[in-house]
Amino acid sequence: MAEGAAADVEDVAGVVDEDCEGSAIMISTLPALGVGLGFREPFRSDVLFHRDRIDFLEITADHYLDVPDGKLQELEMLADHFTLIPHGLSLSLGSAEGLDQGYRNQIVDLVRRIDPPWWSEHVAFTRAGGIELGHLAPVPFSREAIDILAANIAEVQELLDTPLILENITYDFRLPGDELDEGAFLAKLTERTGCGLLLDLTNLYTNAMNHGGDPIDLLDQLPLDRVVQLHFVGGHWEQGVLIDSHSQPVPAQVWELMDFVLARAPVRGAILERDENLPPFESLLDELERARQLGRKHGRWPLPTSNGP
Ligand SMILES: [Fe+2]
Repeated sequence: MAEGAAADVEDVAGVVDEDCEGSAIMISTLPALGVGLGFREPFRSDVLFHRDRIDFLEITADHYLDVPDGKLQELEMLADHFTLIPHGLSLSLGSAEGLDQGYRNQIVDLVRRIDPPWWSEHVAFTRAGGIELGHLAPVPFSREAIDILAANIAEVQELLDTPLILENITYDFRLPGDELDEGAFLAKLTERTGCGLLLDLTNLYTNAMNHGGDPIDLLDQLPLDRVVQLHFVGGHWEQGVLIDSHSQPVPAQVWELMDFVLARAPVRGAILERDENLPPFESLLDELERARQLGRKHGRWPLPTSNGP
C-alpha cells in the first residue's frame, strides 16, 4: 500500500472509531434459521409442499409494498409456515440526498408487520437526484460514503428495533474515490452502524473473477465476525465476464467459499437466490441440503427443520 493510502486508511479508521453511532448487533442472540430460499412466485406451491426441506424464506420487501390485500394474504400464508426475512432493494442507503421518506415508511411498516429476527438491504444507492436508477449502484469505499450510509441507516434504525444487516453487491467497475479496500470499508461501516453483514458469496466471487483478486484474500479482509446471513447462487459467463444472473447452479468455487466462511463466521442463515432459468425444484432442494450439511458440519444450525407438517 502506498504511504498516502495508508495515511488515508488511518484517518478513516480514526474518524469512524471515535464516532460509533449504532449499538452493535448481538449475533449470538439471533436464532439459527438454517438454509432457505429467496421466495419467488413460481415457487409458491413447491415451497409449501416441500416445507420440511426449507428452513426459512427471504421475501423481497418491494414486492409487498403498496399492494392489494390479496398479496398481503400471501405474506400471511407464508408466515404461517416459515420464518420470513424481508430483503429490501430500493431504500438507497448510499444516497447523499437522504432517504425517500414515503418508501422508508413503507419498509418500516412492512418490517414491523413481519416482525422478523433481522432484515436486510444493500450497500448501494438506487436513487440519485430524485431519479430511480433501476439497479443497485456501488458507493465509493470512502469516508464520505460511510458518513452518508451511517446517517441513512441511523434514520431507519431509529424507527425499528429489528436488526439490519447489509449486503455486499457486484459492480461493473470501481469508481474513483476509493480510500479503502472493500473489506476495510465494510468493517468500518458495520462498526460505525452496529449492523451485521449479509455476505453474498456469489457477489464476492463475481467481483473477484471480473476485477482480479483471490476470493479468499477478499474474505480475509472482511469482518467475518459480523456475518449473520449468506446469499449463494450461480451466474453465467458472457464474453469473459461473469454475469450475476442468478441463473445457474451454485459453482464449486462458491461452495468452497461457503465452507470457508461457515467455519469462521457466526452465520445464522443462508439463502439460495435463484431467479432465472429455473430448474426442477428438486435440484434447488438438493442445493439447500448441501448448504445445510456444510453449516451442520461447522455447528452453525441444528437438525431437523422446524417447518414440517
Ligand atoms: Fe444477494
